[in-house]
Amino acid sequence: MTSRVIQWATGGVGRAAIEHVVRHPDLELVGCWVHGPEKSGLDAGELAGMPAPLGVTATNDVAEILATDADCVLYAPLLPNADEVAAILRSGKNVVTPVGWFWTKDPALAAAAIEGGVSLHGTGIDPGGVTDHHPLFFAGLSSAVTFVRGEEYSDIRTYGAPDVVRYFMGFGGSPEEARSGSLLKLLSGGFEQSVQMCLDGLGFAETEIRRSHEIAVATGPIEGPAGTIRPGEVAAQRFAWEAFVGSDKVVRVAVNWFMGDENLDPPWTFGPAGERYEVEVHGDPGCSVVISGWTSSDVESGLRRNPGVVATAAHCVNSIPYVCAAAPGFVTFLDLPVVTGRAHPRLGR
Ligand SMILES: NC(=O)c1ccc[n+]([C@@H]2O[C@H](COP(=O)([O-])OP(=O)(O)OC[C@H]3O[C@@H](n4cnc5c(N)ncnc54)[C@H](OP(=O)(O)O)[C@@H]3O)[C@@H](O)[C@H]2O)c1
Repeated sequence: MTSRVIQWATGGVGRAAIEHVVRHPDLELVGCWVHGPEKSGLDAGELAGMPAPLGVTATNDVAEILATDADCVLYAPLLPNADEVAAILRSGKNVVTPVGWFWTKDPALAAAAIEGGVSLHGTGIDPGGVTDHHPLFFAGLSSAVTFVRGEEYSDIRTYGAPDVVRYFMGFGGSPEEARSGSLLKLLSGGFEQSVQMCLDGLGFAETEIRRSHEIAVATGPIEGPAGTIRPGEVAAQRFAWEAFVGSDKVVRVAVNWFMGDENLDPPWTFGPAGERYEVEVHGDPGCSVVISGWTSSDVESGLRRNPGVVATAAHCVNSIPYVCAAAPGFVTFLDLPVVTGRAHPRLGR
């Protein structure tokens, strides 16, 4: 059965999602919301850089999107808007999104989902996959688990989302601004949900979650997606969210986001392992997993099409058939069957 999908916003995630929807045998693109008025009226295929138009005209009219007959909205704007998501749910469309709601069940949105007879699923790679689903998955091959970890090491020069990088992630301003920015709570909240999902999934007892945030500043000009970072401005950040049972650290979720690994003070580097994602489980037996392929080989190719962003979009798209089939309400990773990709159109049924 084919699910009809609307793409909401055509940034890096949205553009990759359009490509993935078109290739997915069980999905059909039927609508596209854009924020930029200059994009309204353009074909979704053109916006996604595809070779041919898709016959789906983008609009910046929310009412038009809410009135469109569809099964699911892939919601990927700059920042989450709970009222907007509630309206989509009440209009009878499932929502899959990388911008939040990974584990925390907002009662107003739960009610909107029930009213619309649909579901809301938050997913991605980080927060999402590598910070919750993957540690939990690998812990499934251990017993007596004492610790899990999901950690990202990425060169943010390859993430071509200037507003996300500058305002959401806090690069390019002063260290004081990065430590107290209005969006820090939102950013932190997503990762804390991943920690909580690990704690609840594994059954750890009462815990305390502690956040640490270290900053390195530029020692010379660094070209980033949001412009030049000048000496003294934020050029690298290490965030960690760690949960403790008593004095035992039981979960660590962390990101190491650097604008390259030159001209930094302190002089942090990715080390010989380079950019990567890591998952670790202590248990019987334990395991250590390094994921490559979700980071770019060079800055230019990353800015064109960042593999981490493409993977985020793929997981959102691949979740859609499962979310559409789920019972109404909040749907987390732990409520879904294994979400798989689909065969290349050339090789599939
Ligand atoms: N969980 C994860 O693993 C994960 C991974 C990557 C990204 N994300 C999140 O996913 C979201 C999209 O990321 P992205 O990489 O696609 O970012 P992006 O390339 O900057 O795209 C964001 C899009 O949001 C729209 N937009 C801009 N200003 C807006 C506003 N004021 N109100 C509403 N929409 C606005 C624009 O859409 P149009 O171009 O259509 O006008 C823009 O292209 C971000 O919130 C990001 O943090 C999550």
